[in-house]
Amino acid sequence: MTFPITRMRRMRSNPVLRSMVRETHLAPEHMIYPMFVRYGEGERRPISSMPGQFQLSIDELVKEARVAYDVGIRSLILFGIPNEKDEMGSEAYADDGIICRAIRALKEATPDLLVIADVCLCEYTSHGHCGVVHKAGEEFQVVNDLTLDLLAKTALASAKAGADVIAPSDMMDGRIGHIRIALDQDGYQDIPIFSYAAKFSSSYYGPFRDAAEGAPQFGDRSTYQMDICNGREAIREVALDIEEGADLVIVKPALPYLDIISQVRQNFPSIPIGAYNVSGEFAMIKAAAANGWLNEEKVVLETLKSIRRAGSDVILTYHAVDAARWLQG
Ligand code: PBG
Ligand code: ZN
Repeated sequence: MTFPITRMRRMRSNPVLRSMVRETHLAPEHMIYPMFVRYGEGERRPISSMPGQFQLSIDELVKEARVAYDVGIRSLILFGIPNEKDEMGSEAYADDGIICRAIRALKEATPDLLVIADVCLCEYTSHGHCGVVHKAGEEFQVVNDLTLDLLAKTALASAKAGADVIAPSDMMDGRIGHIRIALDQDGYQDIPIFSYAAKFSSSYYGPFRDAAEGAPQFGDRSTYQMDICNGREAIREVALDIEEGADLVIVKPALPYLDIISQVRQNFPSIPIGAYNVSGEFAMIKAAAANGWLNEEKVVLETLKSIRRAGSDVILTYHAVDAARWLQG
């Protein structure tokens, strides 16, 4: 033997040692549960591309939120499916719209549950884009500055209904500052903003667009969501949102963008980071598990721990309730 062997395996030799030096932990408080709410009563409409996830009427949403709460999931993010869509996405900012009704019902039934309102227009616009659309013949444009006021109105309506946190997911420029000012002016200085700061123009959103019935009717989102190839630009997006007042920044999707999460963590050591484990990531695991190709429990926990290890504090995930149960053992 000419060189000494470094015995890395010593510290792996015993479960107590292994858990003593474990670097990353996953617990229910690290997970936010995304939920879909629609009109009706007693409705639980399964989302076919997202097994185990449903469009729920408000009464069922309240029940399901309680189930999540009881396994330790204390926060959820809400997406609404309106009855009527229009050009300007009016129901997004209507006080009696689906989202405001759902927020009020949730806060009344389970006041300790943190309710995060996703703020965007795409579920409410007839064209399915996240902002105001100007059309000229075949060409169309998603108009940035006209959209800002509608987003601020949406944020305010949700805050008035009782939302604890506002999460803008539209990717218009300047919306964090715009929404922050609007909230402050109306006395909502203490409502945090979770910004989808680095949101990529990803094909992993496919199942979500079925779930929220918000697919664009023409074109795509590549003029406002980020190019999937860009990492440095993500740092700039995050820097801007922090400057404008974001309290937490979200990277989305999560698994194919772990490098982005890690870079954001290194560049901004003190900002809380969220990672959105999106619908397509969820669907892939579900499909493989249904075929018996992967062990669902183990792969889900490994995935979520990887997303934490990359540098995120909190994970938005459809696996939240199952994962919380598995963590309880
Ligand atoms: C739209 C929005 C999207 C998601 C959340 N809000 C997707 C999109 O841009 O079409 C995706 C979430 C998921 O895939 O789970 N503002
Ligand atoms: Zn949108």
